[in-house]
Amino acid sequence: MTSSTHTSASGTFLLGGDLPVARLGFGAMRLPFGTLTGPARDPRDGIAVLRRAVELGVNHIDTASFYRRGGVVANELIRRALAPYPEDLVIATKVGPLLGQDGVPALQATPGQLRGLVQENLRELGVDRLDLVYLRVGAQNGPGGESLGDRFAALAALRDEGLIRHLGVSNIDAAQLAEARAVAPVAAVQNTFHVHHHAGDAALLAQCAQDGIAFVPFFPLGGGRDPIDPARLEKVAGRHQATVPQVALAWLLASSPAMLPIPGTGNLAHLEENMAAATLRLTPEDLATLAG
Ligand SMILES: NC(=O)c1ccc[n+]([C@@H]2O[C@H](COP(=O)([O-])OP(=O)(O)OC[C@H]3O[C@@H](n4cnc5c(N)ncnc54)[C@H](OP(=O)(O)O)[C@@H]3O)[C@@H](O)[C@H]2O)c1
Repeated sequence: MTSSTHTSASGTFLLGGDLPVARLGFGAMRLPFGTLTGPARDPRDGIAVLRRAVELGVNHIDTASFYRRGGVVANELIRRALAPYPEDLVIATKVGPLLGQDGVPALQATPGQLRGLVQENLRELGVDRLDLVYLRVGAQNGPGGESLGDRFAALAALRDEGLIRHLGVSNIDAAQLAEARAVAPVAAVQNTFHVHHHAGDAALLAQCAQDGIAFVPFFPLGGGRDPIDPARLEKVAGRHQATVPQVALAWLLASSPAMLPIPGTGNLAHLEENMAAATLRLTPEDLATLAG
């Protein structure tokens, strides 16, 4: 499957109850670098990918100020490629991690440091208010369970000031979501979730869907790692003349109406391939094959 499919074919979701987005979105982390420790990518490629994504109907882009490498900064690429922004474009960003000297997230911001990080995103993206800001907590590998109330309250104060429209939380467990929701409304949860890594968050996903909270899976394609069990994905892909990444994305879209995948790529051909998954509908037989 290749196409100029419009991503609205994936359905729409009302983020925060008032921002309609196509369910299939785009993640900007791979624009400055292909791998976490790899070299910077050519900014011209990133700009071309962003413009094509919007042409294909993407109106939900996930970014962060810490997506940067060797002077190539995802937020700045977004601004250069897309400003003045389409009215319907929702740009979600995240704060929390602080980069170490090697350019890899190392420490967590304190509540007092969050204002500066939000202002950095406003400046880089060239906007007066950020549509959606996640508090990203914990280490790189899964939720750590620590208290996030003080940091979330600091972000809620910035929302009350008008610098942020909606808040989200990332890399969290159910107790941390409850802690955040006791402070302020949560519009979106962003956790690792893909066809080979999902069982742990099944209940969290169901809760999000029930409460109108978007569930935004990071590493929707497995983060660029080879699939653990490619045979099942290939079998389903063969039935639809589709590709393995397209099946992985279609599986996410089928898993819940609250699921908003944000596949990341710095490659135009990969972008076209991924966005074409908006029209791929898996059958009950396909879902059974993938479940094993
Ligand atoms: N909240 C968090 O802690 C967190 C953590 C990680 C990521 N994120 C967000 O989630 C988004 C998605 O995650 P991700 O980008 O890390 O992982 P991903 O979407 O699961 O996979 C991206 C990787 O797959 C490759 N790829 C993409 N499309 C492909 C295709 N059609 N065929 C073959 N390879 C393909 C990309 O390489 P190429 O670039 O060469 O195509 C890249 O290496 C990120 O962009 C970021 O916005 C959030």
